[in-house]
Amino acid sequence: MVVRGAPAIGVTAAYGCCLALREAVEQDDWKSALAENLDKLERARPTAVNLSWAVRLMRALHEELGEVRAQDLAKAWFARAKQLHAEDIETNRRMGAFGAELIEDGDTVMTHCNAGALATAGHGTALGVIYSAVEQGKKIKVIANETRPFLQGARLTAYELHKAGVPVTVACDNACALLMKRGMVQKVVVGADRIAANGDAVNKIGTFGVALLAKHFGIPFYVAAPLSTIDRDTPTGDDIPIEDRTPREVTHVGDTQITPDGVPVYNFAFDPTPAELIHGVITEKGVLREPYGASIKKAFDG
Ligand code: MRU
Repeated sequence: MVVRGAPAIGVTAAYGCCLALREAVEQDDWKSALAENLDKLERARPTAVNLSWAVRLMRALHEELGEVRAQDLAKAWFARAKQLHAEDIETNRRMGAFGAELIEDGDTVMTHCNAGALATAGHGTALGVIYSAVEQGKKIKVIANETRPFLQGARLTAYELHKAGVPVTVACDNACALLMKRGMVQKVVVGADRIAANGDAVNKIGTFGVALLAKHFGIPFYVAAPLSTIDRDTPTGDDIPIEDRTPREVTHVGDTQITPDGVPVYNFAFDPTPAELIHGVITEKGVLREPYGASIKKAFDG
């Protein structure tokens, strides 16, 4: 959790491959050591697909280069990692431009978890949409759900929006229904850790509930994510592995234990939001709409 947020994990994984190689060359059989290191890196977090996406790109580049010396591979990988890093910022900017068109002057936008500059190489996915709308001169307010148990909303989203001068209010996750009922939310924009081929989007635990409530109150619910987060090999959201994190995040707040000894807890880190609850998926190729199977295919082919 030092590096978190799907696109940031992807870019860091690309640089991680360079470090994995640096470590492997200390071994007699550097190629086997490298393969082991890359497997380990790929297994670090199971849900965010950008991790395996980045490692796969680096593996493919290695294959393309054929029988290559370790120092030449290191140069090629580092250049590719820097390119992926720059491309992520550019992609977020493009997503921001498309997404900002969906936001109206005066809107209050709810977001869940942190999908901002701190979760990407810069600008952000969901928050990128907000920053771009603000750059267009729109007066936007944001409600950041606190995002139990790791509190990415309260700690990271609130921090970066406040620092950027965007009005932000933190709300408990369980205030969502009341805020929506009172007409205090006009749009919801969230990021994603992995989007399945049918458009189901896996994001931070609690996102599914926010989407259901948005549907109930007739509030548009958008997902902002780059094509690198779309996993066309996974048919539906239910096929995406959900990270099961340490119970301590739930049993403790800081160093204080809040649950009785011996009581087990659930700490699933993500949940899948079904495609039918999503008004649009904001990507660097434009806003994808239902039927997502077809629009996703078009975005990749076009
Ligand atoms: O567990 P995290 O903090 O890595 O989870 C991050 C999220 O769920 C984000 O909303 C998602 O990765 C989108 S990041 C642009």
